[in-house]
Amino acid sequence: MDERRLGPVVGLGTWNTFGSDAGRAGEVVGAALDAGVRSFDSSPMYGGAEASLAAALDGPREEARVLTKIWTSSPDEARVQLANQLRWYGRVEVEQIHNLVAWQAHLPWLEEEHEAGRIERLGVTHHSASAFDEMVRALRTERFDTVQIPLNPQERACERRLLPLAEELGIAVIVMRPLGEGALLRSPPSVEELRPLAPFGVTTWAQALLKWSLSDPRVDLVIPATSCPERAAENAAAGAPPWFGDDERRLVEELASRR
Ligand SMILES: NC(=O)c1ccc[n+]([C@@H]2O[C@H](COP(=O)([O-])OP(=O)(O)OC[C@H]3O[C@@H](n4cnc5c(N)ncnc54)[C@H](OP(=O)(O)O)[C@@H]3O)[C@@H](O)[C@H]2O)c1
Repeated sequence: MDERRLGPVVGLGTWNTFGSDAGRAGEVVGAALDAGVRSFDSSPMYGGAEASLAAALDGPREEARVLTKIWTSSPDEARVQLANQLRWYGRVEVEQIHNLVAWQAHLPWLEEEHEAGRIERLGVTHHSASAFDEMVRALRTERFDTVQIPLNPQERACERRLLPLAEELGIAVIVMRPLGEGALLRSPPSVEELRPLAPFGVTTWAQALLKWSLSDPRVDLVIPATSCPERAAENAAAGAPPWFGDDERRLVEELASRR
């Protein structure tokens, strides 16, 4: 296996779920760690979540892999963002250029930080398929180890070019929005409809959606976000084999098309 690959595993996103509420972060991150989650994704854009995550990881930092981002076109501000992250986390396992903002300008100095051992891997993210041409250009430089893109049964644009390219170049794929920002969960299928997925360890609709993404062998890591400790544990349980085959993936797609 390529040593750059990160999974397949379930991580935890931090957008819009605990922000600067360090108490809530401690509960959610603690439940995720207890359930075996080791990868935590954040960003300077997430309203205080980076600092809350750092507080939650204060003890168990060595067990965790921190994925965060540089999100600014200003070189000075970017260095402040990294300095804050190094103060909070000591090092950054995956530093991603958020929404590809000024990626050509940031890449050289981030590579120096990588050489110095303060950053382990470099990546890029974008939430919109309209940016995928630019993302292909960035990945073709072969200077990035990870790519973060949206994927769920109702949002599959990355399957056309980005997943094949990531596979070709050995780039680890991190999936944002695996639950469609929660929209896919509003009217879940019945217990009866989910029953064929029970042999795969799936008992809830959220788990079915997460396992659907992870069962694509080109996907490394899904990072569902939640403000609820019980859901963090529920989601983590989707990160273990057996993986879905074509029939189970088609069933999830069919069920999702009715939501
Ligand atoms: N969305 C983006 O554009 C974007 C962009 C860049 C990066 N990211 C990264 O990707 C991560 C994940 O994406 P996302 O947060 O946008 O969306 P998501 O993970 O697809 O969905 C999160 C929503 O699902 C709900 N949820 C989670 N687990 C659940 C469960 N087991 N049962 C019922 N509801 C559940 C959460 O509500 P509760 O809090 O009520 O559980 C939350 O509202 C982000 O947190 C961030 O780290 C996202």
